[in-house]
Amino acid sequence: MCGIVGYIGPRDATAVILEGLTRLEYRGYDSAGIAVLDEGQIEIRRDSGKLERLKSLIQQCPLHGNIGIGHTRWATHGQPSARNAHPHLGSTGTITVVHNGIIENQLTIKEELSREGIRFNSDTDTEVIVHLVEKEFRQSGDLAEAFRKTILRLKGSHAVVMLSSEEPETLYTARIGHGGGIVLGKGEGEMFIASDIPAILSHTSDMIFLEPGQIAVVGKTGAELYTLSGKIVEERVHHVAWEAGSAEKGEYQHFMLKEIYEQPQVAVDTLSGRVDFSSTTVHLSDLDQSVENLDRYNRMVITACGTASHAGMVGKVLIENFARIPVEVDIASEFRYRDPIVDGNTIVLAISQSGETADTLAAMAEAKQRGALIWSIVNVVGSQAMRSAHGSLSMRAGPEIGVASTKAYLAPLLDLYLLGLWMGKQRGTLSEEKMKSAVLALRNIPELVASCLYQESNIRKVAKRLEQVSHCLYLGRGINMPTAYEGALKLKEISYIHAEAYPAGEMKHGPIALIDKDMPVIALVPRDPWYEKMLNQVQQVRARGGYLIVVATEGDDQIADIADEVIWVPETPWRLSPVTTVVPLQLLAYHTAVLRGADVDQPRNLAKSVTVE
Ligand code: M6R
Repeated sequence: MCGIVGYIGPRDATAVILEGLTRLEYRGYDSAGIAVLDEGQIEIRRDSGKLERLKSLIQQCPLHGNIGIGHTRWATHGQPSARNAHPHLGSTGTITVVHNGIIENQLTIKEELSREGIRFNSDTDTEVIVHLVEKEFRQSGDLAEAFRKTILRLKGSHAVVMLSSEEPETLYTARIGHGGGIVLGKGEGEMFIASDIPAILSHTSDMIFLEPGQIAVVGKTGAELYTLSGKIVEERVHHVAWEAGSAEKGEYQHFMLKEIYEQPQVAVDTLSGRVDFSSTTVHLSDLDQSVENLDRYNRMVITACGTASHAGMVGKVLIENFARIPVEVDIASEFRYRDPIVDGNTIVLAISQSGETADTLAAMAEAKQRGALIWSIVNVVGSQAMRSAHGSLSMRAGPEIGVASTKAYLAPLLDLYLLGLWMGKQRGTLSEEKMKSAVLALRNIPELVASCLYQESNIRKVAKRLEQVSHCLYLGRGINMPTAYEGALKLKEISYIHAEAYPAGEMKHGPIALIDKDMPVIALVPRDPWYEKMLNQVQQVRARGGYLIVVATEGDDQIADIADEVIWVPETPWRLSPVTTVVPLQLLAYHTAVLRGADVDQPRNLAKSVTVE
């Protein structure tokens, strides 16, 4: 979705904003722009296409000043073009805004303003904001009040930042609804505004997250926060312990590859301080405070979108196995509109990398309203999904920049494993022996994940077989059925090859009709409790001439005889096998996409955090 950066302080605002926008490129965008107060006048540069175009425009026509706002746009209303790019300027030339989200009542406002003689210069919904502020300002002469009144009129979920030459030392920002996060960064005599942490992480780690329905009036030395009704809100500064360098690509060709390679470290970080191998216990202090007596809960619903929902599917198997509580997995966009059966005896667990996915946040709000205990597993510290839950586990994956989620899939797999053990212990459903062996099984996980990476050159060869295909089928069963879903999602989102995943047992009920020599089948056949069944199923694919690529446990000679290609994973205890089997599928998608010349980190039509419906 759109990226936003704002700056006020002693530095050159253009440089700070362009750097921030560059760090937000991963979100996906189709045009970009910047506005700076240059000698008391608002100067705007904007263009369609990549940031490089904006940068060369600025080189030709520089703009200088110490306060400004910038934006990368992902078109919703109006074509991607310079005319529709943000910032948008009002009729007086003294007020300009950038915006992320959708204004649901923009047509009504546009009609009203048009009747009053306002001429619109773009096809965007955003432009109504700046004209409304101007109208209110004409009446009251009070910019803060004009901004607040305007925000109150807008329906939908969004984030806005406003710059005005009327108040050259102030930026105004607001967050409405669950869409469009806004984070304020506190520096020494300077303040930053951004839609996402990585945009400003190289300048400060002290961040204030705006809640939905809050306005911030930002000056050089700090910010004042208000509710939409004008009540002062006390600011809460979060220290974000991410390293600035973790949002850089370094020696890797793409963020996605870097993030795949970070996974052994993510495993270490996820387990550290939570697992005590000597006493074989699990500590989830982040959740301890959220619940007095787990026994009163008789059901759990995991809600999430995309990759996070696949992690949830693995979580279902783990939590049911360890804690013996029924778990359902519900796609957030479906859950929220289905009049879900959730009450005070239900735990609703939301999983989200960004913690800002609109559907997931809405599902959480719906469940909270119905009295459920809300937990979340979230990567972005301080994000809405973390703040609005009764208890939240942090993913500890560090910033994930590649649009295709990798390390933020692996991290919640381990979080869910720990959660299952923690719940099992509290509910008395785990024997000491099972607890002990489950905890000890975690000990080698970082090494096992690392050893999957050694397969990369073999995987690159396998990717050559996929380079030219148009379709693929992914098969898995049991705890690795979600791995098949995740592998297929990775391939389709970055290589644009149509990939479908099926629980392998369903093959005979239809999809087997697709099998011929042109249909590569990627099957997950590790040595787990479903091994024999999977063996059977891949034989059936083989018998019909399908091209068979198998992910299997090292040393499995039987599978080597059946498959056309084998990608080995190390022997891993079955409940943890999704942590290793997914790594080769991430690499396979990555190398296939690279061979096809696709834009791996910014795949077409996709955005990193989906803050609109
Ligand atoms: O930030 P979230 O985890 O809530 O995002 C959910 C999905 O949008 C996300 O996982 C998406 O499917 C990714 N592109 C997958 O690689």
